Amino acid sequence: MKKIIAANWKNNGSKDFIKKYFSYLDKNLEKSPHKEIIIFPPDIYCSLAAELRKDNPVYLGCQNINININNSTLTGGTTFEMLEDNSLEYILIGHSENRANEEKVSLSLKTKLCEKMKIIFCVGENKSDRDKNLISSKIYSQLDDLIKAYNDSMDLIIAYEPIWAIGTGLTPSSKDISNTHEIIKKYLNQKLPSYKEKDIMVMYGGSVSFDNAKEILTSQFVDGILIGGASLNVEEFTRICNLQI
Ligand code: 13P
Repeated sequence: MKKIIAANWKNNGSKDFIKKYFSYLDKNLEKSPHKEIIIFPPDIYCSLAAELRKDNPVYLGCQNINININNSTLTGGTTFEMLEDNSLEYILIGHSENRANEEKVSLSLKTKLCEKMKIIFCVGENKSDRDKNLISSKIYSQLDDLIKAYNDSMDLIIAYEPIWAIGTGLTPSSKDISNTHEIIKKYLNQKLPSYKEKDIMVMYGGSVSFDNAKEILTSQFVDGILIGGASLNVEEFTRICNLQI
């Protein structure tokens, strides 16, 4: 199976940054049939990124969509139709940085709306869940939103992002990451028997950098990495993408 290496730029970037980023990738990114590289730019720069990626073997995704649960208009919203119109391939749903503002929004509804795209569904415990040994129950309850929306034609990937590891420089041990990925795969396989365990891809996100990327990427049950801060440095991101794994 391919390994996924994804860059979540969050609310960073500028036209100049993106031009330099893609020009660097053009010259330095090694093509590999064993890796899928995805970049999540801020919405406003997605079409510029789509123009600039040219022949780069890079997929593009959107960091979120917005819905109004009252089904009325929403000022400042990005819809699924807009992503489709711009030929974006991936969507992040349920990133912890957005969940905080989305308590009332149904993630199942978002997943359903995006069912034609490749969905990266984010789950992960906070520090207090971890301290209380509630990692699996927290993750199961988050996966239940996905399970409600699931149908066999969906193209799904899970991103395990422990909240306490995001942007902190802290990461779980690779053994802990493997264990959590295994329970995610087992839970989905048990709840969705038509979703074959071997096809369930789980990526890890939270303080991934060049220094730990290889160890994490080659750990058991890890199918990819989702990188925030370190992906803003195109040289570091490219070194990670070019790792021999
Ligand atoms: P950092 O790599 O900056 O910890 O961010 C991880 C993340 O939130 C990716 O979605």
